[in-house]
Amino acid sequence: MTDKNDAEKFRDLPTPFYFYDLDILNATLNTLKKESQNSGYKIHYAIKANPNPRILKIIASYGFGADCVSWNEIDASIEAGFDPSEIVFAGVGKTDKEIDAAIKANIFCFNCESIAEIEVINHLAAKLNRTVRIALRINPLIEAHTHKYITTGIEESKFGIYTWELEDVFKKMARLKNLTFSGLHFHVGSQITRMSVFRSLCTHINELQEWFSARNIDIKTINVGGGLGIDYENPEKSPMFAEYFTLIHEIIDLRPGQEIHLEPGRSVVGQCGTLISRVLYIKNGSNTQFAIIDAGMTDLIRPALYQAHHKIENLSSKGNIYRYDVVGPVCESSDTFAKFIELPETRRGNIIAIRSVGAYGEAMASRYNLRDLPRAVFSDEI
Ligand code: LLP
Repeated sequence: MTDKNDAEKFRDLPTPFYFYDLDILNATLNTLKKESQNSGYKIHYAIKANPNPRILKIIASYGFGADCVSWNEIDASIEAGFDPSEIVFAGVGKTDKEIDAAIKANIFCFNCESIAEIEVINHLAAKLNRTVRIALRINPLIEAHTHKYITTGIEESKFGIYTWELEDVFKKMARLKNLTFSGLHFHVGSQITRMSVFRSLCTHINELQEWFSARNIDIKTINVGGGLGIDYENPEKSPMFAEYFTLIHEIIDLRPGQEIHLEPGRSVVGQCGTLISRVLYIKNGSNTQFAIIDAGMTDLIRPALYQAHHKIENLSSKGNIYRYDVVGPVCESSDTFAKFIELPETRRGNIIAIRSVGAYGEAMASRYNLRDLPRAVFSDEI
């Protein structure tokens, strides 16, 4: 959590940096563990949301699995203590080298996105004289009602296999001897705040189960993916794990021996991170004042890329309220964190907190303009 007292705490630290509140992270992980144990669901944390090594170690210590989208993510998860037998590997463009390394690492399952990929995995498994577990990522054609860049299960999405291809996929898979079919995988998008989206997905899963049972194809794992959104307007609010799990439990018609798997990312780490920055200059615009801070889109690209909203606070000032455009130093007009927002009178040197950035913040930082990558500071270090 950040509050006015933190301005003092952060005063002598060089900015910008990601501040991670470990109390929030542990509280979220405890809730997730409790809820997943109650429901019997297997959790694979989506590494892409935040692969900071210390964060990974903490998450691994709770006994969760990992959802990875590159060999480097698999390698980092194993290094952090995740058990390879709890790692799933997704992505539309797995390279031969990545597939080879993942087979050798004995991961739990490949979440496959096309017949072409399935054939390559079979070929590489045969070369190693191995049989590997695969799940089929299905495109369920469900609108996620989120930003279009993070919508992944509609007709024009590059992800997954259409249900009308399944007949053909199973015909081809019958010839592939180095694969074991484990089950189905879905992921319709990210930052989903309407529970009705998950309700539609679960209903679709029930319908699909009929297709499989009519053909006597056994489904062991049903991976519902990630996507549960967080409340960016209220950074203190915890994610709605209980409601989400209850919905899945109530709708999906599990058959004997089947397991539900989930891949939450944002909901696990989103609220524990804050980007701490300093005001460099206040500058008058024609209709607004610019608060130019030392963090930019290279540190946090979400507002520029998805027009994402993050709550912004001035931790140093208790002055009168004025309106500001909060912008970074990068040479792009999209390097804007918020427009015309209310802040207490803001001056050079004030500490600015950009909230709810634990997911897809540090993970997406770049060195554009040859800027330094942001550092990470943990709450037990200061
Ligand atoms: N599983 C799969 C197959 C995924 O593609 C993703 C996220 C997840 C799980 C985790 O989803 P989550 O629970 O975090 O919503 N950079 C964007 C988000 C991209 C999400 C990509 N896939 C952002 O900053 O909003």
